[in-house]
Amino acid sequence: MLTTRRWLLPLLFTSVVSTPLMAKNNPADNAQYEKKFPNQYGTWLQTGESKALDDALGNDPNLVILWAGYGFAKDYNAPRGHLYAVTDVQTTLRTGAPMKADEGPMPMACWSCKSPDVPRLIEGEGEAEYFKGKWAKGGPEITNSIGCADCHEPGTPKLRVSRPFAERAFETLGTPFAKADRTQKQNMVCGQCHVEYYFEKTAERPNWVKFPWDLGTTVDQIEVYFDGIGFSDWTHQLSKAPMLKAQHPGYETTMLGAHGRNGVSCTDCHMPRVQNEKGKWFTSHKVGNPLDQFSDTCEKCHTQDKEYFVEQLKSQKARVAQLKKEAEAQLVQAHFEAAAAWEAGATEEQMAPALMDIRHAQWRWDFAIASHGVFAHAPQEALRILGTSINKAADARVKLVRILAQNGVTAAVTIPDISSEAKAQAVLGMDMDKMNADKAIFLKEVVPVWEAEYKARNGG
Ligand code: HEC
Ligand code: HEC
Ligand code: HEC
Ligand code: HEC
Repeated sequence: MLTTRRWLLPLLFTSVVSTPLMAKNNPADNAQYEKKFPNQYGTWLQTGESKALDDALGNDPNLVILWAGYGFAKDYNAPRGHLYAVTDVQTTLRTGAPMKADEGPMPMACWSCKSPDVPRLIEGEGEAEYFKGKWAKGGPEITNSIGCADCHEPGTPKLRVSRPFAERAFETLGTPFAKADRTQKQNMVCGQCHVEYYFEKTAERPNWVKFPWDLGTTVDQIEVYFDGIGFSDWTHQLSKAPMLKAQHPGYETTMLGAHGRNGVSCTDCHMPRVQNEKGKWFTSHKVGNPLDQFSDTCEKCHTQDKEYFVEQLKSQKARVAQLKKEAEAQLVQAHFEAAAAWEAGATEEQMAPALMDIRHAQWRWDFAIASHGVFAHAPQEALRILGTSINKAADARVKLVRILAQNGVTAAVTIPDISSEAKAQAVLGMDMDKMNADKAIFLKEVVPVWEAEYKARNGG
């Protein structure tokens, strides 16, 4: 109760001071665009039809071990409709249960791809102020899910990249948004979010979002970049390897596929041109599975029927899934073998090269699978990357066998029972009951206050 009141206090204060001024003309308020652009608004709203929550950890408990010691081991769902982005970042266990604005665990940067309130805030207060502080600081200012002003100059059909950190990254690659052609622009509006990024750890830009593209955008070039600046996202709980977490480099990998190389854009497949009931053409804003709109997407350029592509995609997905599974099996073994080596008394000097192999192997595995839809976008690149992941994990294991022997361990290292998400989390000593209970309190007590405070300050 007490904690709730701490949120209410600023609410009462700001509602008096700023409502009359700010309530009009909030560019992030998606609903205001319905009247002017009913077709686009109506189809945008339909992203809400993709509501199934797919528990990735439950489907594949290996992930819990691979991300041991990091937030993703707590909770990770496959992506769903854009309409759920804000709800999902509030609900995931990864953002914890902050009862106060300055409580962790995550920084402000975690909002950056969820809402048109993000560009609204950055335009109002600047990036330095926006990125300052913990994730909970942004709660009362961010409620609109991914919408119009994320991709458009507010209130107009003109496309834009609304995040300055994304614009800087495209400049690094040599094509700022203003100089891009139409296809590139269509890709870039998606690429401001569906990319690899990390949180900078420099004094000038603490926890700012950056795309690690200074040396290029392939998995190999980004790996060299991260190694060069000595960056790691976390230290693995079992192996103690300095790990990298790939985010969702869909833009980077898609550009390497047959479509990306031939100038087919994200929107050609995910936002096709369609007709309304009066026969007027417009862009469907129902971003989802392109096969659901087959006659407006694939069929515009290809002569084969839907069944042909369904089968083709199914087999591509199965091949990627097979190598993914092999890479995971090797990596899980490597993490436990490294833990056993430390236990047996291995030194940092002995371990360093094996841990580097683990870092690189898992980075590559993650880069491939976190590129959601990679089996459709760039299946060959996915298979190539996963192949190198398997090789590097095997390199690590060869080194670990030697280190274990040097430290007197010759028997095979046994893997505990990790056959379900809960069992794998128990092996790591994670208290899921407490995390879930805290989250429930947060969702019940804090989120409604955030929403009320937002309305009072910004309208909408
Ligand atoms: C994820 C990015 C994205 C979001 C979110 C988005 N749009 Fe669009 N919008 C596009 C793209 C891409 C096009 C096509 C541009 C082109 O043809 O090059 C487009 C086109 C348009 C057009 C031009 C007419 C047409 O149908 O092609 C209008 C108007 C428009 N959008 C309005 C909206 C409104 C209103 C919203 C919010 C309800 C919205 N958009 C949300 C990306 C987006
Ligand atoms: C402002 C950031 C942002 C932009 C811009 C954006 N996305 Fe997304 N996208 C997300 C997030 C975040 C999710 C996951 C939402 C969730 O699961 O709650 C997502 C989910 C998706 C999904 C999964 C949908 C489903 O129903 O499973 C697809 C497909 C997708 N995006 C494609 C695109 C395309 C194509 C574009 C450009 C036209 C685009 N996105 C622009 C952030 C963005
Ligand atoms: C040639 C058509 C095509 C192009 C171009 C394309 N996609 Fe896709 N995309 C697909 C197909 C097909 C799927 C798989 C859908 C499924 O089976 O769920 C997919 C899946 C996805 C997913 C995963 C959805 C999920 O729920 O797992 C995301 C995210 C996505 N695409 C984003 C993008 C972005 C961003 C771009 C541009 C950089 C892009 N796509 C370009 C066809 C395309
Ligand atoms: C705007 C046109 C366009 C659209 C839309 C489009 N494609 Fe393509 N597709 C191409 C082009 C161009 C190529 C490259 C042809 C070549 O390499 O000669 C291609 C190649 C392919 C290939 C062979 C290369 C590979 O990736 O293995 C497949 C399969 C394919 N497309 C499937 C699809 C599916 C499925 C969809 C719908 C989700 C789709 N395409 C939508 C233009 C398109």
